[in-house]
Amino acid sequence: MIIQPRVRGFICLTSHPEGTAQHVKDQVEYVKSKGKITDGPKKVLVIGASTGFGLASRISAAFGSDAATIGVFFEKPAAAGKPGTAGWYNSAAFEKEAQAAGLYAKSINGDAFSDEIKKQTIDLIKKDLGTVDLVVYSLASPRRTHPKTGVAHGSVLKPIGQSFTNKTVDFHTGVISDISIQPVENEEDITNTVAVMGGEDWKFWIEDLKAAGVLAEGIKTVAYSYIGPELTYPIYRNGTIGQAKDDLEGTVPALNELLKDLGGVSYVSVNKALVTQSSSAIPVVPLYISLLYKVMKEKGIHEGTIEQMQRLFAERLYNGGNVQLDEKGRIRVDDLEMRPDVQAEVAKLWEQATTENLEEISDIKGYRKDFFNLFGFNLDSIDYEADTNEVVNVPSIT
Ligand code: NAD
Ligand code: NA
Repeated sequence: MIIQPRVRGFICLTSHPEGTAQHVKDQVEYVKSKGKITDGPKKVLVIGASTGFGLASRISAAFGSDAATIGVFFEKPAAAGKPGTAGWYNSAAFEKEAQAAGLYAKSINGDAFSDEIKKQTIDLIKKDLGTVDLVVYSLASPRRTHPKTGVAHGSVLKPIGQSFTNKTVDFHTGVISDISIQPVENEEDITNTVAVMGGEDWKFWIEDLKAAGVLAEGIKTVAYSYIGPELTYPIYRNGTIGQAKDDLEGTVPALNELLKDLGGVSYVSVNKALVTQSSSAIPVVPLYISLLYKVMKEKGIHEGTIEQMQRLFAERLYNGGNVQLDEKGRIRVDDLEMRPDVQAEVAKLWEQATTENLEEISDIKGYRKDFFNLFGFNLDSIDYEADTNEVVNVPSIT
């Protein structure tokens, strides 16, 4: 079929199999171009491995240090004349690249929050790898069915205490408007968001993996967080999602205790704001990202998802020495984003930004390109008028 982008709000309903494959290949080539990561991970489990930071982590491990990888994700293959999801095609492309390079790669498609998928993953590790030495936790989801209580929790993106009004952009049209977001009305909005995006599921994973004896001596595990600028605090770090991130970061001591007898350690890495399927859904953030990209590209310090994760692996997690942490015990690869000169320029541009000057003072073009690239569109090498086969298998899934 001929596959073109079909956009509804901040979601693209279609994905291009060859385009996503090219996007994965570009990330593989980037990691290879950076050379081998000395003493990098060898047997890696990535939870949330099909898009965004999780996919980039999987690629960094596989092509940076020849790691065998198992990826867990929740994606859909093509069905009834509808293309599959981007994460499905990404995973098919990743496995193909890994196989061609002689690297073990298998994937599990299902609800990572469930006990059943945890068990399937453990069985696969036992059968094929014995143990894993790195567990990357990179889930982003709007809902979670709790495996012990059966309660379906939905996360919300709301401020806490008072309403928040600021600029936001419709990145498709470039129209800037004011948005007012009402604060949470009850404690439940907060507890639900923490249940979905907090640290409990990460802890359940590590507990189950440890109990099954599939964590190697010296195991490392890492999950991802975000802080960002003051202007997004009300909707991000001081909002419901921020409470979940506090909870995620607060899980580190408990995991360290759990991993102590294996000589293992857990980390949260604070990453840069980037265009992913998850971040495009957060009000205010896309405008911030398009101004940030402009400033960081001008300064020659811009990074995408793959650059971030390659640097996390090569210069933080596996740097041959101590892992540098901030005063709260977190890894920071948002260091360039948070540089005072960068933030000062973004804040200035934020005040100036209007619908009329947006194209000129921001990198909204780069934002759009990155957004469409997530779904395999807007890549120079692909002919989007041509027929393409939407039925693509992830080789390890039958
Ligand atoms: P993403 O949407 O690109 O990736 C989410 C992944 O989770 C996908 O692989 C998806 O298949 C998987 N997933 C979702 N629900 C699942 C389920 N029930 N079972 C199995 N898999 C499931 O998101 P992302 O932006 O890469 O976010 C990953 C992490 O990084 C999140 O913790 C996010 O908060 C954090 N982070 C994101 C940014 C950013 O700007 N995008 C910045 C810093 C930190
Ligand atoms: Na991810």
